[in-house]
Amino acid sequence: MSTLSDKDKNFIWHPYTQMKDATAAIVIRKAEGVYLFDENNESYIDACGSWWTNLHGHSHPYITKKIAEQASRLEHVIFGGFTHEPAIRLAERLLKILPANQQKVFYSDNGSTAVEVAIKMCLQYWQNNNQNRTKISAFKNSYHGDTFGAMSVSARNVFTKAFENLLFDVISVDVPFLFNETEALNGFEKIVTENKSELACFIFEPIVQGVAGMTIYSADALDKMIAICNKHNILTIADEVMTGFGRTGKFFASDYLRNSPDAFCLSKGLTGGALPLGVTTCTQSIYDAFLSSDKTKTFFHGHTYTANPLCCEAANASLDLFEANNSFEKIKSISNLHHEFVSNNQDKFPIHKFRTIGVILAIEISAGETHYLNSIADKAYSFFIERGILMRPLGNVIYIVPPYCITIEQLHLIYNTIVEFLNQLQNDV
Ligand SMILES: Cc1ncc(COP(=O)(O)O)c(C=O)c1O
Repeated sequence: MSTLSDKDKNFIWHPYTQMKDATAAIVIRKAEGVYLFDENNESYIDACGSWWTNLHGHSHPYITKKIAEQASRLEHVIFGGFTHEPAIRLAERLLKILPANQQKVFYSDNGSTAVEVAIKMCLQYWQNNNQNRTKISAFKNSYHGDTFGAMSVSARNVFTKAFENLLFDVISVDVPFLFNETEALNGFEKIVTENKSELACFIFEPIVQGVAGMTIYSADALDKMIAICNKHNILTIADEVMTGFGRTGKFFASDYLRNSPDAFCLSKGLTGGALPLGVTTCTQSIYDAFLSSDKTKTFFHGHTYTANPLCCEAANASLDLFEANNSFEKIKSISNLHHEFVSNNQDKFPIHKFRTIGVILAIEISAGETHYLNSIADKAYSFFIERGILMRPLGNVIYIVPPYCITIEQLHLIYNTIVEFLNQLQNDV
């Protein structure tokens, strides 16, 4: 009799996986809080929050109940010409917590589509305003998703290699890290000034570049970059797909900035990790550029499951929990523990780079090239899985982005396992 695992191998093609030599995918039967339970009832702490989505713990009874209640009322309805209460309530709530310049919410269904929507909105904004601005600027090392527009504004690397000739050109700019802040800012100002009449927008992951390896850069410098864009009327897009909903210690990473971006992309933590949903928000001025008696100025973009009521209700429930659960206290205490861990350990392992902000803790392992395909990733993954921890390294960067319900004991278990791993690496040398 074939097992679920056998059937999985027979029928399914997994994401980001070389299926030729993939080890059997672990069959998860149920999940609760930070724990995932497999077929044999082995448990794993979900230290990566299932690709950075989970905020309040898995199968949270409140979110589950709200989804079930919504499903029995209205599971889905076309969003062209129709609307529903969960989408309206969610839009109103998001606009309250986003910077005040955000005035309209456009729904889609994942992070990449939220980015596609933002890029298309900005490009068409200029077209509708009869200006030929078609260039986009983005950070080197950025990651904005896997659809063609999102890939185009992302770094050229192993993810995009097969499609390189098909992606549109982007003006890539240096990230303002501490060591190169002045040069990066000067370079940015020069590029923007030279291209100002053609630049439509600048897209960035605010303060933390997730897929690049949880690299953290200066909020102050980003603020200055947005100010430069504002000076030349270049639209700015904050891709908060990873950083949103408390990950960096504030609700949005853009809350560290004085200058508010013109558009926001949200997904991942938006539904607390329960269901897929994407949101792109924008200013009144962007929205107004599409208002016309000329129908060709319409924003011709939409996805079939746009604003699915179950997903919107999950997002509303997640926001309820954010308020009811003192999430910021939990985030603060996780952040304090991360800082303590870093200060206790970075001198013990000076060859590796430790970084932390909010609930994100990352360690760039010094072992060959910093690269997604660095073989240390497989070694680390197996090491942690064998010890009941789901950690999905980004190449030679191991990191944790846990749900906010994680306990001090669970965090210490992860920290101790990280130390064990780093010690083993040292002994292997
Ligand atoms: C900053 C950022 N933008 C966009 C995306 C794409 O999101 P999705 O995987 O939901 O398409 C990701 C995914 O990791 C991301 O980190």
